[in-house]
Parts: sequence; C-alpha cells; structure tokens
Amino acid sequence: SGQNPKLVAGNWKMNGTRSFLDMVAELRVGAAGGIADTDLLVCPPATLLAAVATALEGSSIGAGGQDCHAKESGAFTGDVSAEMIADCGATHVIVGHSERRQYHGEDDAAVAAKMQAAHRAGLVAIACVGETQDQREAGKALDVVRKQVAALLDDSVTGANTCIAYEPVWAIGTGLTPTVADVAEMHTAIRETIAATIGADEAAQVRLLYGGSVKPANARELMAATDVDGALVGGASLVAADFLAIARAC
Ligand code: G3P
Repeated sequence: SGQNPKLVAGNWKMNGTRSFLDMVAELRVGAAGGIADTDLLVCPPATLLAAVATALEGSSIGAGGQDCHAKESGAFTGDVSAEMIADCGATHVIVGHSERRQYHGEDDAAVAAKMQAAHRAGLVAIACVGETQDQREAGKALDVVRKQVAALLDDSVTGANTCIAYEPVWAIGTGLTPTVADVAEMHTAIRETIAATIGADEAAQVRLLYGGSVKPANARELMAATDVDGALVGGASLVAADFLAIARAC
C-alpha cells in the first residue's frame, strides 16, 4: 500500500450511452454510503463527460476524460482538448493509455505533450505506462517502464497534478494479473524514477495506480502492495456494484 489516499478510477473506454447515467446515479448513492479515504473518479467517453460531471456535482466522485489533444484548439477534426475536458467539469484526464499507444500510434513524446496539455488546463494527468507480454518474458519490463516514465517527466510534475498508472498490456482485459510482488517491484521502480527528476519528497506524493484486470476479488490484495495508491479499472467499472466493491476493498 502507498502512503497516499487511494484513488479508484473507472475507465469506461468506448462504452456507455446516456442510459449509463442511471449507473452514475447508483455510484453516487453508493459513495454517499461511505467509502472512507478513497477518492473515486469516473472516466466516460467524451460524449458523456459533461452529463456525467453534472450528474456527479456535489458528490465525492469526480469525472475525467480518457484522452486529450496536446493543443488548446484548432483544426483537429474529431479531437478534444484538455481545456474542453476541464470545461465539461472534469478534474482529470487519462493520457497514454496502451490502447492509444497501440491503435493511434502515440509514442512517449506524444504522451508527454498531452500530459503538459492536461497541466496547462489545470487537470490532473493520469499517465499510463506498461510493458507488453514479450517485453516481460524477455526480462525487460522494468527497463521499458522506467523509460516510459522518464519520458513523461519534467520539473512541472507534482503529486497534485500527476498520477502514473502502471498497466501491463498483457493484463488488460485478460483476467491475468502480475503477482503482488511484481506489482510492488514495478511501483517502487516507478517512484524511484520519478524521484530522480522531481525529488523524493514530491515523488512520494504522486499517486501510483495499478490497472489490468482489477476485480472485486483481487482488489484488496493488489491495493495492499507496496507503493500502490489506487486502481485504474476497466471492465469492472461498468458495473456499479463491482466498482464500489473495488473502492471498498481499498
Ligand atoms: O485503463 C484500465 C484498463 O486498461 C484495465 O482494463 O478491463 O483489464 O480492468 P480492465
């Protein structure tokens, strides 16, 4: 477990229509029932962001985007800027998810630019990193992830404006998870990498989330691992009862 208050963030990916606002209402009621010391965040698709943020106003649950463009505005058809996400009432934005890296060719430099855009707009960036199965089998997981993290960092990164989500690509949507020892080893390596740029005191306050097949049944164990400050949840965030159970397991 990390020293920071836990954050459980739900990444809906390309799922959700307006009917999901009923689920958001359920989350609101569930969270009001008391989830001590754990912050909750819902990241719906861009089409629902304003409606979800409005539905969560005055609750303890925040809303976040799933991606942003690096620029503030302009001729970028189909894209959404960090400023637009903030204007919806969101407080966070995910950047560099492995699905963006894989299907949209985003490299470390592109992800770093998006993280800077998030900060420019006053959003907390949740920057994702993680190795593929081949990289893990080749014994390169730590090196790959350290390099990804280092590429994101500059001296504007603080515990207040940045979270790093470790999502091993092979654990996403597969039901597979690393061992608790592997998660702890990776999170400790990530924190050391952050400390090398912004110093140990500030790095200690950057929340490090684990993502990849987090479920109610494994959340307690994963969230108790060294240097884990929360979870980035995909599939299980689409069911209110599961998402709340994961939050309670923290
Ligand atoms: O961003 C969260 C995600 O990639 C994990 O997905 O479905 O394995 O929880 P899932």
